[in-house]
Amino acid sequence: MAEPVQTPAAFPRRIFSGIQPSGGITLGNYLGALKRFVEKQNEGIETIYCMVDMHAITVWQDPAKLRHATREGAAAFIAAGIDPARSILFNQSQVSAHAELGWIFNCVARLGWMNRMTQFKDKAGKNAEAASLGLYAYPALMAADIMAYHATHVPVGEDQKQHLELTRDIAMKFNHDYGVEFFPIVEPVIEGAATRVMSLRDGTKKMSKSDPSDQSRINLTDDADTIAAKIRKAKTDADPLPDSLDGLRDRPEARNLVNIYAALAGLTPSQVVAENAGALFGSFKPKLADLAVAHLSPITTEMTRLMQDPAEIDRILGVGADRADAIARPILDRVYDITGMIRSRR
Ligand code: AMP
Ligand code: TRP
Repeated sequence: MAEPVQTPAAFPRRIFSGIQPSGGITLGNYLGALKRFVEKQNEGIETIYCMVDMHAITVWQDPAKLRHATREGAAAFIAAGIDPARSILFNQSQVSAHAELGWIFNCVARLGWMNRMTQFKDKAGKNAEAASLGLYAYPALMAADIMAYHATHVPVGEDQKQHLELTRDIAMKFNHDYGVEFFPIVEPVIEGAATRVMSLRDGTKKMSKSDPSDQSRINLTDDADTIAAKIRKAKTDADPLPDSLDGLRDRPEARNLVNIYAALAGLTPSQVVAENAGALFGSFKPKLADLAVAHLSPITTEMTRLMQDPAEIDRILGVGADRADAIARPILDRVYDITGMIRSRR
């Protein structure tokens, strides 16, 4: 069967992104990803969002905690403004196309490419021999998540840029090897003031779900007092805020709080600095804490309410998975045809 040849530019705009249920959602996830997912949905673009549970188990997950984190993540999406009627919201393992295409991509990606992935090196640490094979193959599964929908745009934080470059390489190699223009070449969407929110304890480290110190991050489940206390105790320097961004160049902790403020307030970091020039952290931090609480509290409250009915969350994920499957299955069928797999079952 000859494949119709399409150019990547011919693909309709479609957004896909995912978050791992490997812990609670942080302010970094919220500003770098979730808040922007909502904006994309509200711009009227077709949006598909996924709790990537199969990515999460590339490092050990307690099954009960994984189930809880998947539901809580879904609750965070909805509480933050994802409307399951407008966006497709589901968990990855319910749509088998991800794992199936992931295998095909394992056979397209080259070991040399995987060896360059900095996230693997960071996560595997010194004892890479003991890391799972899944952790190594993880970026190929991520490429499959995106390509199973022919998604064209992927909003993510800065840390995912390299994985999206790999996704482009895999799509191009597949298209080239099989002589088709089947997969679109995806565009990373890394934008806004908070594409890399840093730890509150160390301005050179990313804010992360897996940091052993809870003080290093704000969780979407934190109450108002906890948020305020964490911001009050955040590491900073003793200097006042400068009057331009240049003055923050060697002050990573100060720059981080300015970026967080900007992203929450919908301002640019330059505007925040201009408005607060000369302020000491003794006055800037309480302002930031008030802003963060005002922004996050309604989300936390709604998440808590949604979590009281886990069956309803599961129902929403199931409906989303059906809709996702309806898009991915025909794409995967064509992948099997292109690669020479016999499909005689139906
Ligand atoms: P993860 O928690 O690794 O599944 O990340 C889910 C999404 O949140 C991805 O798009 C990440 O790039 C984004 N993200 C995670 N941590 C941060 C952070 N500290 N700052 C900005 N974006 C982040
Ligand atoms: N790797 C991403 C992260 O850790 C999560 C992810 C998995 C993802 N599949 C994706 C993000 C597809 C965007 C698109 O943050």
